[in-house]
Amino acid sequence: MSKTIIITGGAGFIGSHVVRLFVNKYPGYRIINLDALTYAGNLENLRDIEQAPYYVFVKVNILDIKELKNIFERYHPDAVIHLAAESHVDRSILSPMDFVYTNVIGTVNLLNATKDAWAGSFKDKLFYHISTDEVYGSLGEKGFFTETTAYAPNSPYSASKASSDHFVRAYGETFNLPVIVSNCSNNYGPNQFPEKLIPLFINNIVNEKPLPVYGDGLYTRDWLYVKDHARAIDLIFHEGKAGETYNIGGFNEWKNIDLIKLLCRLMDKKLKRTPGSSEQLITYVKDRPGHDRRYAIDASKINRELGWKPSVTFEQGLSETIDWYLENTEWLKRVTNGEYLKYYEEQYGGGGR
Ligand code: NAD
Ligand code: DAU
Repeated sequence: MSKTIIITGGAGFIGSHVVRLFVNKYPGYRIINLDALTYAGNLENLRDIEQAPYYVFVKVNILDIKELKNIFERYHPDAVIHLAAESHVDRSILSPMDFVYTNVIGTVNLLNATKDAWAGSFKDKLFYHISTDEVYGSLGEKGFFTETTAYAPNSPYSASKASSDHFVRAYGETFNLPVIVSNCSNNYGPNQFPEKLIPLFINNIVNEKPLPVYGDGLYTRDWLYVKDHARAIDLIFHEGKAGETYNIGGFNEWKNIDLIKLLCRLMDKKLKRTPGSSEQLITYVKDRPGHDRRYAIDASKINRELGWKPSVTFEQGLSETIDWYLENTEWLKRVTNGEYLKYYEEQYGGGGR
């Protein structure tokens, strides 16, 4: 065994892919998955690796500083990879304080537990914070976010992530804690909770429900397959420099409406439906307040310095993602339970607005 790593949020979408990658690729590492199992956390995502000898799951809320300290005392981690967060922009508009608690206060709790446990002895230690490109705000028609773009968050979600990034940076500067931050673009892939655009629309197409397109549908996102994000996190964790920030992106910009139409075409084929039938479900609805027009990441630093680039094309990744959801209808049914239906009703008023 060569390292003990705490991974927070490991039962969520990206976290589960990171945990699986680390458990399979580094069988000698002890991986401690800390997760509160909110609506977005699901241990089913990790069934295939839960028996691995050095894998441990601990149910804990990162707001519980006492329990965090106990965990640090019990496991003596060498590193923390922090993914636990409230992650959905629409929920942050409905309920901003949840985002302040988990994303801001939870992150600072974790920083304090880490700093105190390592007690100034930081050799070979690392606190790696996983963040988002949304902290940079919105782009016009042209240009890209780089690591030096000024922060300009526009939603309670991105404001809470920006705040957590600043705290991580401040703990690096003030206490010399070895920290790294990476800011990634939109992820998609298996196990993503069906509140986010791609899995929500796959689920709605399967069930022939309206596809609620916000505003004019011309908003642009840069999509990255989740397993490529996990590969980037692995690389940054092992080869990144403490004190640095790395942007991660898919070099893959899509206007929402073009992506949705592609998804509709692929789904019609896979479900053997009449071509054009899923597009009939498209329903333009009221826009998201504070909706960022365009995100696009300049990922040249991680490419140049660490040799990372996406390995999966969007067509491949999207097709694999659809297949995964079509093969895992029971997973979908289990996560779209009463709690989720309540959220859906509040957000969409039963379909269109
Ligand atoms: P997710 O919502 O799928 O998972 C979040 C996980 O955190 C869940 O397992 C949940 O149970 C856990 N969690 C939430 N609050 C907690 C708390 N108080 N204590 C302990 N655990 C808690 O999120 P995701 O999409 O996998 O995102 C993971 C991280 O990556 C987040 O920090 C997010 O900001 C960041 N990120 C996401 C994307 C994306 O496209 N999804 C892109 C860039 C960055
Ligand atoms: O950019 C990284 C971020 O990507 C992450 O930090 C967030 O955690 C993640 O949720 C994601 O945020 P977005 O707001 O970009 O993702 P979402 O899937 O919610 O929306 C993608 C686009 O689709 C966005 O322009 C809003 C639009 N949309 C979304 C939903 C859920 C719709 O038009 N209709 C919808 O019903």
